[in-house]
Amino acid sequence: MPLVTSTEMFKKAYEGGYSIGAFNVNNMEIIQGITEAAKEENAPLILQVSAGARKYANHTYLMKLIEAALIETDLPICVHLDHGDSFELCKSCIDGGFTSVMIDGSHLPYEENIKLTRQVVEYAHDHGVVVEGELGRLEGVEDDVNVSAEDASYTNPAQVQDFVGRTGVDSLAIAIGTSHGAYKFKPGTKPQLRFDILEEVERLLPGFPIVLHGASSVIPEFVKMINEHGGNMPDAIGVPEDMLRKAASMAVCKINIDSDLRLAMTGTIRKYFDENPSHFDPRQYLKPARAAIKEMVRHKLIHVLGCNGKA
Ligand code: G3H
Ligand code: 13P
Ligand code: ZN
Repeated sequence: MPLVTSTEMFKKAYEGGYSIGAFNVNNMEIIQGITEAAKEENAPLILQVSAGARKYANHTYLMKLIEAALIETDLPICVHLDHGDSFELCKSCIDGGFTSVMIDGSHLPYEENIKLTRQVVEYAHDHGVVVEGELGRLEGVEDDVNVSAEDASYTNPAQVQDFVGRTGVDSLAIAIGTSHGAYKFKPGTKPQLRFDILEEVERLLPGFPIVLHGASSVIPEFVKMINEHGGNMPDAIGVPEDMLRKAASMAVCKINIDSDLRLAMTGTIRKYFDENPSHFDPRQYLKPARAAIKEMVRHKLIHVLGCNGKA
């Protein structure tokens, strides 16, 4: 099966009350762990590549690894640019075979966000590629950009119809209280999301796919594993699974997960070296790391996203 856009996936996900997992990929083991789980669970997939991932692994290597995953799984897979920050970057990914791009103009003044997003949409649609825009700003770390709590802002529902209408985006990322990275909520406080904003956006844009960034649960088992094997992570709190399930049953059709992949991989490798200090063959420690990613992703597909069996 060739690469697909997310159009059909989102339509079915919206109607079916589930969500598609958008997992960040940076190397072969991560791609294999995710796609092996999806194959066993017959789940549609979005594999997303950040500017940092592209810099680290090289566009062609990532595309070829994803092509290999297509051959091995025969699943509907969409390749998406995560947090594109310029027209040039989006164009380069579109020209290089991505089927979806995000243009993240959320840090720009509203009219500039519209102008940049519209420019990307025009080019993308001319090339059969879909576009995700963003309104509202998430706290946390992406690449080299660190958004402080003061600079973060919830999406204003009063803007969404105008933004979607004037830009022509195919999906919209909104900010309802999630954030990037492993430290999403203050230790000792109860995680809370603004479902009232999501409900209002859903009412104003019926049938339109919404995207949730910063949606790792920061799985405690992996944080514990890191800290029990030489790591030193402070209290890390993610988005509770029941909240993600609720979002998936509403208008959220794409749930972004990166930090949980990083934690699974790092925790497993730390444990491996702690238990096998004399080993130095990368295959020995990357194999359990890949297996941990696979099991973690399988859990998400079934119990969080609800997209198992939907390919
Ligand atoms: O939202 C950001 C993703 O976690 C990607 O992170 O830019 O460090 O690759 P990165
Ligand atoms: P997490 O840091 O919660 O995994 O979020 C990833 C993300 O939103 C990628 O765009
Ligand atoms: Zn994000």
